[in-house]
Amino acid sequence: MIKRIQEWLSRKDRQVPVEISPDNIPRHVAIIMDGNGRWAKRRGLPRIVGHQNGMKAVKRATIAANDLGVEFLTMYAFSTENWKRPKDEVDFLMRLPVEFLAIELDELIEKNVQVRVMGDTEALPSHTRRAMEEAIVRTESNTGLILNFALNYGGRKEIEDCMRGLGKDIQAGVLSPEEITSELIDSRLLSGGLPDPDLLIRTSGEMRLSNFMLWQIAYSELWFTDAYWPEFDKAHLMQAVAEYQRRTRRYGGLK
Ligand code: IPE
Ligand code: IPE
Ligand code: MG
Repeated sequence: MIKRIQEWLSRKDRQVPVEISPDNIPRHVAIIMDGNGRWAKRRGLPRIVGHQNGMKAVKRATIAANDLGVEFLTMYAFSTENWKRPKDEVDFLMRLPVEFLAIELDELIEKNVQVRVMGDTEALPSHTRRAMEEAIVRTESNTGLILNFALNYGGRKEIEDCMRGLGKDIQAGVLSPEEITSELIDSRLLSGGLPDPDLLIRTSGEMRLSNFMLWQIAYSELWFTDAYWPEFDKAHLMQAVAEYQRRTRRYGGLK
């Protein structure tokens, strides 16, 4: 019996029944989708097969978040540091949004999902940019879940660009240093218009931020799982939300 429990506990995909209250669903969930390569390696497969299966997990997570009533789902798909990877892998990753949207866009539209992109999109290959632009245009009047892809995104670059913009405005005499507030900075970041993430999830057992939303996650609740991203499903999201609901968010105060 004990051996069976131990086996169950060591399974990466174990599913526990969870109770979720509909009154305290995180409005904005952000996910660092990590572990595609290791998932593939464990199966003796090339890393790109992990990315391919990771794409299916994006769909599962989107539907699950939509079903739970999450309003904003930000997915870290490619960082400003991921260009360091071998060209073949980068090329594959840049084709994935094209493939993902070709397969899923109609269903996303049917589910009233609005697609957005956050990152330095100018530097993306034109086919990647075109696919994302088409998805943005075709879903811009949708009023359901906002699915925000962080693509060629880096938290430090975002802050750097924001500061450069503020500096230029001061130099041009249209902004005074006293007018720089948290709200102004918020509005001038790539996430402008989205509330800060309430819940940040990272898969694959890594416990770091890897340059993700450094400004915006100041008070986010963090949840980590050993599951690799291609294994992620609704049960994981529910576990994360259940844990979120057990936390007390104090924001530095007393509660
Ligand atoms: C996440 O999986 C996808 C991206 C970073 C694009 P990885 O490719 O980082 O997989 P691991 O971490 O090497 O296993
Ligand atoms: C973070 O994962 C970036 C994305 C999930 C897109 P990485 O695999 O690039 O992070 P590190 O290198 O392990 O910190
Ligand atoms: Mg990784």
